[in-house]
Amino acid sequence: MDYSRLKWHVEDKIGVLTLNSPETLNALDSIILNELEAWVDGPAQEETLRAIVITGEGKAFVAGADIKEMLSLDAQGAKKFGMLGSTIFRKIEKLSIPVLAAVNGFALGGGCELALCCDIRLASKRAKFGQPEVGLGITPGFSGTLRLPRVVGVAKAKELIYTAKIVGADEALSLGLVNHVVEPEELLEKTMQMARQIAGNSGSAVSKSKAAIDRGLDMDIDNAILVENDLFALCFAQDDQKEGMQAFVNKKKPAFK
Ligand code: HXC
Repeated sequence: MDYSRLKWHVEDKIGVLTLNSPETLNALDSIILNELEAWVDGPAQEETLRAIVITGEGKAFVAGADIKEMLSLDAQGAKKFGMLGSTIFRKIEKLSIPVLAAVNGFALGGGCELALCCDIRLASKRAKFGQPEVGLGITPGFSGTLRLPRVVGVAKAKELIYTAKIVGADEALSLGLVNHVVEPEELLEKTMQMARQIAGNSGSAVSKSKAAIDRGLDMDIDNAILVENDLFALCFAQDDQKEGMQAFVNKKKPAFK
């Protein structure tokens, strides 16, 4: 598939998506959003993939939704634009495999929201995070008001959103917004290393773990236990459980298909 604003390649069952509009700091306009939707509905669902890495070209991960495009929107247009981004980000979040954000630079507004819909975030020391929307007279509109409190807690999310302040990578780490902070030149390789570590495990068990965590977080604990129990049991009807446990008993490394 050809894109004008995205780059996509697959290595060792790991898909790497690069937002590639560095002259506008990868700002999310309708073109890039439509390409992201085509990607998430298509190549991102390829069954052989075990993990996906999302990163940005240039000095930004994503500097937000495109302010120049939003300037002329009326309420109806804004509703459509917001829902387009929220729908895409939800689809990314619901991919059955882990998605890792390699946050190379600015992750502001819609960029922070894109990072938030990923399972795991690694950040370059140069990365900067924030939800500057209230300074532009708007609220976060790609589900940041929902995901940020789930990741950093309600009080910290409210502080970030109400003040519109931009935080560096180390503060993002202390907030729990990112999992790791690394040197800029090591970011992609460290993220790929984690992706490869994930890909070396049972893909089926990783996906079921993701489903158990994400579905469980949306329900009360008694029903969540039932969901986990179903997924756990299902593992025992599949080859990877035999392979993993036989390998342990035979003191070998498992070879998952
Ligand atoms: C459109 C953007 C942009 C954006 C940067 N650019 N961010 N264009 N929308 N969000 C453009 C600039 O206009 C400029 O183009 C070029 O990218 C380079 O940016 P500079 O500002 O010259 O770079 P720099 O001085 O390094 O400053 C970097 C920056 C700043 C601090 C990240 O660009 C900035 O504050 N950007 C806006 C960040 C923001 O407020 N994001 C939230 C958006 S609202 P030209 O042509 O002028 O050279 C949002 C809502 C999400 O995301 C939900 C929507 C429903």
